[in-house]
Amino acid sequence: MKILLFGGAGQLGHELKKRAADLEFEVVSPVTKEVDITEADQVMKVVASARADVVINSAAYTAVDKAEEEPEKAFRINRDGAKNIALACAKHSSRFIHVSTDYVFDGLLGSPLSEFDPVNPVSVYGRSKWEGEEAIREVLGESALIVRTQALYGVKGVNFVHTMLKLMGEREVIKVVDDQWVSPTWAGWLAEALLDCARLPVGGTLHGSCEGAVSWYDFALEIRALSARHFEGRRQAMIEPTTADALARPAKRPVYSAFDTTKMRQVLGRAPMKWREGLVAFLGELDIR
Ligand SMILES: NC(=O)c1ccc[n+]([C@@H]2O[C@H](COP(=O)([O-])OP(=O)(O)OC[C@H]3O[C@@H](n4cnc5c(N)ncnc54)[C@H](OP(=O)(O)O)[C@@H]3O)[C@@H](O)[C@H]2O)c1
Repeated sequence: MKILLFGGAGQLGHELKKRAADLEFEVVSPVTKEVDITEADQVMKVVASARADVVINSAAYTAVDKAEEEPEKAFRINRDGAKNIALACAKHSSRFIHVSTDYVFDGLLGSPLSEFDPVNPVSVYGRSKWEGEEAIREVLGESALIVRTQALYGVKGVNFVHTMLKLMGEREVIKVVDDQWVSPTWAGWLAEALLDCARLPVGGTLHGSCEGAVSWYDFALEIRALSARHFEGRRQAMIEPTTADALARPAKRPVYSAFDTTKMRQVLGRAPMKWREGLVAFLGELDIR
């Protein structure tokens, strides 16, 4: 099976390429300077020439705080870029799997979010990703698969786990928010789930995260505990709780955006990894435990 992958140089894209090769997919993945998804002609041309069975879009504008300063750029990539790919898939009859985010929600419900819960993005990034989803649905209806994920961490790229591990070796104390809850998701697990979806006749919206809910603070404590041996004989910073208000980041985040993964279980025929198992597997890949 052949896959055309946009965003292959990113955090999730890296894990997708690694696993696709192991699972005997043929992958074509142009970098941004070869194909910019905001350029409709370039996208149309590569979708036509790749003749892929499935097109996966993992390319996005992901700088959540910076997006508040440059909304045009965020919308150009996350909404218009996604639409360009959908139009090309419609024209060339390719299946389309697009990656979206928990930031389409405000997280005020206070319980795990299903695909049927109402969205209400509270940031520019969240709105741009939601409008990208809507643009895809307008073009392809339910035949496109939109997989929302969250709190991703992979071997490549900047993410919460890498940041914690780095700061734990540099600081005495790290303050982490204790009033926002997520389902931390190992990008290696998500990559496998997306590749399984590529082989399945599934469309619509799907919540794709590791299972369970945890505050960022408790997640940081778990990272600290699981990496204690790695820090043996060296300083390992203490983790202290703080609030989202005290941190005052430019973009608002959802309060509680852990996912209900019932539908993903049904589609895959197995339960997603629990968030702690994902973290253990990831630290194992980094050779840190
Ligand atoms: N990271 C998270 O915690 C998280 C959470 C929820 C959902 N998601 C979603 O998951 C997906 C993957 O995220 P990620 O963490 O892997 O992101 P990432 O590491 O920032 O990678 C994004 C990729 O998109 C590419 N890209 C950006 N603008 C482009 C353009 N105009 N044309 C072509 N490619 C472009 C980037 O290439 P360059 O490096 O060349 O710019 C990069 O390879 C995204 O859809 C994101 O919204 C992520």
